[in-house]
Amino acid sequence: MCGIVGYIGHREASDVIIKGLKRLEYRGYDSAGIAISNGELQISKGKGKVAILEASLLATPIKGTLGIGHTRWATHGEPNDVNAHPHTGNTRKFAIVHNGIIENYDVLKKELQKNGCTFIGETDTEVLAHLIEEVQRVSKADFETSVQIALKQVVGTYGLAIVNHDEPDKLIIARKGSPLLLGIGDGETFVASDASPIIEYTNKVVYLDDDEMAVITRNGYEVKTIRNVKITKEIHELEMSIEQIEKGGYPHFMLKEINEQVDTISDCMRGRLQVKANDIKLGGIEPVLDKLVNARRILIAACGTSWHSGLVGEYLFEYLAKMPVEVEYASEFRYREPLIDDKDVLIVLSQSGETADTLAALREAKERGATVIGICNVVGSTIARETDAGVYIHAGPEIGVASTKAFTAQVTVLTMMAMKLGKMRGVLSEEKFHELAVALSEIPGKVKEILQQAEKVEEIAKMFTYAPNFLYLGRSYNFPVALEGALKLKEISYIHAEGYPAAEMKHGPIALIDEHMPVVVLAVTNHVNEKMISNIEEVRARKGRILSVTNERNTDVIRLSEFAITIPETHDCLTPLLTVIPLQLLSYYIAVNRKCHVDQPRNLAKSVTVE
Ligand code: F6R
Repeated sequence: MCGIVGYIGHREASDVIIKGLKRLEYRGYDSAGIAISNGELQISKGKGKVAILEASLLATPIKGTLGIGHTRWATHGEPNDVNAHPHTGNTRKFAIVHNGIIENYDVLKKELQKNGCTFIGETDTEVLAHLIEEVQRVSKADFETSVQIALKQVVGTYGLAIVNHDEPDKLIIARKGSPLLLGIGDGETFVASDASPIIEYTNKVVYLDDDEMAVITRNGYEVKTIRNVKITKEIHELEMSIEQIEKGGYPHFMLKEINEQVDTISDCMRGRLQVKANDIKLGGIEPVLDKLVNARRILIAACGTSWHSGLVGEYLFEYLAKMPVEVEYASEFRYREPLIDDKDVLIVLSQSGETADTLAALREAKERGATVIGICNVVGSTIARETDAGVYIHAGPEIGVASTKAFTAQVTVLTMMAMKLGKMRGVLSEEKFHELAVALSEIPGKVKEILQQAEKVEEIAKMFTYAPNFLYLGRSYNFPVALEGALKLKEISYIHAEGYPAAEMKHGPIALIDEHMPVVVLAVTNHVNEKMISNIEEVRARKGRILSVTNERNTDVIRLSEFAITIPETHDCLTPLLTVIPLQLLSYYIAVNRKCHVDQPRNLAKSVTVE
């Protein structure tokens, strides 16, 4: 949550920062601000999106070649002008932007107030600004030592950038729990929460690790721990391109990303799914394959959409590899006493690779001796770096806050892993493996066919734009897809929606059904089809409005539905890769009709780096 950009070099810092903050807006967009150090420390900030800050800088420019900026997702203190970052202390000597949570802010604040500090807002970050100032006042230490002393008193998480009125050619950044990286240019250095603001200037980056800080000047940078131990960091080359982070003619990133799935699923399988050789190669997990094959059980931990793909994974591993699986909300896993040890394998799923709860689950499992495998999208992300082994999903940057292409790529990786394990464990025959490998290789073409029906989904969306509630029903592999469909709708259109295993409907939710209730049913021709048809009848008997995602030969379902979207047939265990596509489109068009901000829904942020 929250996006940070910093710059020191020869360009106008405010141009680099505003452009960068726009790219980071998916991390938070309730207020934005900038501080430029040019002999003076000049700050402009306020409630609202980066465009508002940009307009105010156009009216009143702040010139200078060193600065920091922030786009906020509020944790402490409502989104308003005062709580917007950057924050300063009483003397306005330091300006600071921060992503994370200072857990002991209240204790620190009371202490600082006793020493005469006056607070104007409610954020935990303002405490940090005062603390650094106070440390320097008392200790007379230099800029970086003051930052180090202050940070040693902090409990919590931070990715932060600080400028100092008295040292206008220096920028300090530090990290604990919230991502930060440096972009190394020619005579210029960039700082950002992720690579998207940097990629148009340089592809050379340095990832900061926890408890590290960087002191950046016009002559370069130096990385050290907050305990002042110098560190030589590896410079990584980014593979991302600028086209990948632009809308490419689509009105929204979400629609672009839905349409990209034909390619992203292919990219995810490329070089891995070897149909002719009847094999799957997942290089990233080869070092731990033995451990995985012989694991007592697999645990999967994730949040949100990634948790839904984890649920699909449970069905896949049990069916294809005959391995026991438990899927956990990462946030819950951490706060109980999980029974996990070195005989278990934990798979963490995360698009961003930065989700705080997922990261905490990973660390908890590692501490207890389990092998941890990551399935991430963002290359070089914290989760990707901290796991014992992993598989990148290769979906390319996902910028729309509602996750779409990451879900299908995650499910594709889980399918390949389950097939590989099934084969290695001798529970998936060569013939069955081949049949599935062929079916999997055909999925991108089938996704394309579904996307060609977008106009039909758009028409259907018009019928349901103002429905106050939605119910999504599925069974077996498509139960997690029902959950995912409901999540997509509620997060971007603000319509209340629930996903349910179809059979559970009669244990409660059926009471909600009347002639106003749209019920989306995922009913494909499989072993639970007859049961789904009975559930559809139950909804119809109560006048619920049936919208089905089904197959063309499922004529009974089509006959019983008010609207039916048909998808091509595939092997039952691969259907989530297809059934989810119309649900993504449906939520997209409903949100557009309701004039919702599709790519930046209210109250949400893409990368949830607080617990
Ligand atoms: C929903 C969505 C969120 C994320 C969740 C986990 O569309 O995007 O529910 O899936 O915040 O994020 P990652 O996968 O980055 O760990």
